[in-house]
Amino acid sequence: MTDSLVERLRSAGCVFAEEEAQLLRAEATGARLDELVARRVGGEPLETVLGRVDLDGERLQVTAGCFVPRRRTLLLVRLAVEARPSVLVEVCCGVAPVAALAARRLDGLEVHAADLDPVPLVAARVNLGDRGRVHEGDLMAPLPADLQGRVDVLVANAPYVPTAEIAHMPSEARLHEPRLALDGGADGLDLHRRIAHAAPGWLRPGGVLLIETSERQARATAAACAEAGLAAEIVRDDELDATAVRAVSDFDRLTPDPGPPHFRSITP
Ligand SMILES: C[S@@+](CC[C@H](N)C(=O)[O-])C[C@H]1O[C@@H](n2cnc3c(N)ncnc32)[C@H](O)[C@@H]1O
Repeated sequence: MTDSLVERLRSAGCVFAEEEAQLLRAEATGARLDELVARRVGGEPLETVLGRVDLDGERLQVTAGCFVPRRRTLLLVRLAVEARPSVLVEVCCGVAPVAALAARRLDGLEVHAADLDPVPLVAARVNLGDRGRVHEGDLMAPLPADLQGRVDVLVANAPYVPTAEIAHMPSEARLHEPRLALDGGADGLDLHRRIAHAAPGWLRPGGVLLIETSERQARATAAACAEAGLAAEIVRDDELDATAVRAVSDFDRLTPDPGPPHFRSITP
């Protein structure tokens, strides 16, 4: 016997139609189920329809109009936790996946998360709960001034899609995630440059800036960090298909002979 919900989802292009039907039925019945199905068939990401995303065994709230955290961003979580910070700031936080997962894994961590868009910050507050504070505004501008010079880890999955490439993105992202969350400017690196430039003012000596990037853009992201006086290296994780730049502040003061600004690549 055919399942009409599975058929509807399949016709709408849902590759995992059986699994999605099961999840949607577990979530709602009757008119509410019809509403969720209509949103999914209309192309909205399953995660925002269900109102949640599961990452590395942790559940995060995500609502319509938010960027859905991707599995590859777990590389930032791993690098942030490995740095054993006491103070962590996530800028361009969206629903704050890195801040929330790090806060759940590190006791006593002081956590701040900030974004320009108020929509994902509603979910960010839920995801952080009483483990962290949420701020609304442009990059670091809304952060408390007393964080300057004492941040151990500053982390960002900022928009890095070159403007002209947005038109070629899958429709789930292009039509249902805010352009503010995707558009990184002409070469995709506008936000990376701004974050790298501002980071030294917020990091403590030896503090670490972590930026998600793509394999193709990684050298340019690392170069932006090196230009800001940070010692940058590219980190690649093939299993997560993830690339990040890790850049250490006050390299000059920490090492007797740092040499010229540089970066290197490492694959863990
Ligand atoms: C690619 S999304 C990533 C969200 C989140 N970090 C994650 O991994 O799920 C980029 C985020 O940057 C935010 N953003 C874009 N420009 C910004 C700016 N100038 N200041 C602060 N946040 C900004 C967007 O609102 C969006 O939430």
